[in-house]
Amino acid sequence: MAAKQRMLTGYRPTGKLHIGHWFGNLQNMLQMQHDCDAYYFIADYHALTTHWQDPTHVRESTEEMVLDWLAAGLDPDLCTIYRQSDVPEVVELMSYFAMVTPKPWLERVPSYKEQREQVSDKDLGNLGFFLYPLLQAADITIVLADAVPVGEDQLPHLELTREIVRRFNTAYGDFLVEPQAIIANEGARVPGTDGRKMSKSYGNAIYISDSPEEMRAKVMSFVTDPQRKLKTDPGDPDICPLHAVHKLFAPADEIAEWDRCCRSAECGCVAHKKKLADDLVAYFAPFQTRREELAAIPNHAWNVLDGGARKVKPITSRVVDACRELVGIDARTELTTGVERHDPNAVNAQTAPSYLDSE
Ligand code: TRP
Repeated sequence: MAAKQRMLTGYRPTGKLHIGHWFGNLQNMLQMQHDCDAYYFIADYHALTTHWQDPTHVRESTEEMVLDWLAAGLDPDLCTIYRQSDVPEVVELMSYFAMVTPKPWLERVPSYKEQREQVSDKDLGNLGFFLYPLLQAADITIVLADAVPVGEDQLPHLELTREIVRRFNTAYGDFLVEPQAIIANEGARVPGTDGRKMSKSYGNAIYISDSPEEMRAKVMSFVTDPQRKLKTDPGDPDICPLHAVHKLFAPADEIAEWDRCCRSAECGCVAHKKKLADDLVAYFAPFQTRREELAAIPNHAWNVLDGGARKVKPITSRVVDACRELVGIDARTELTTGVERHDPNAVNAQTAPSYLDSE
């Protein structure tokens, strides 16, 4: 039997998951724990790059996120769930990457440029934030991942990771694995209560652990087709966020009926909201029961993370030991990794990420 593909993805611990995460990434993660050799980690160092002034937040959010993952069905026997900071070797690997990476490669990472221009409530001039894509490259390569599922906004980070791996391997010998990006499915674009993409930072999110009352209140506040002012006006389900959310989990014939009666103005938005609220509460009830059970087990999330650290550390230590040897800090004439050294001058003839010439 062919070995399963090694797949890795990381989440910044931003707290509880919302239904955008649930119908997007989380369903993929549940499937991939069966199909792949899957690694899921809480990117707590990454949280510090933007939230270093708020030390109380990271630990709490880590626990919330792990409980959400477990209650949703991620199974620590099928996949490896760990915390980035339990593998501090990743910072060592990042520093080797910092040696080989030309500074302009980072200065021009699109997400970096964008956030520096657009984020005004925080000072993102710190070096930690600047180095973020190198840390991500280290997260991925430290387990020798073959594949990384990402949203489109993360593609440049993957491209950068691949360039760094090539540069590292060209200088020291073919050891690190170049990861493939897998574009995550469209479920990722779930609309929030105001019709924009559901996001914690927009304040338009319904959390999967919201109480039934909170869920109902949020559903009732959803915007619908803005052209439909009166119940007697026909509506357009194609632009209605309510329909978009309902479609994610209700049976097709039921959706078709809401579609029809909206277009013909036979049913109103309030009735539809009430039904969606009922359906949403019922859909998440088993998850919520399970989450309460898990939250009642003392230290459960931390125990799972400890178990994950025990599983991942033999891999990460071996990789970092090998890199230490390859960069010459633990130099031996005969490399224990069996890797053959290249001509280090060849790195100068190398390519760079494609976004470098797209000023
Ligand atoms: N950068 C990702 C985000 O902001 C989180 C992340 C960190 C990640 N390291 C990773 C994702 C490695 C995939 C692989 O969402």
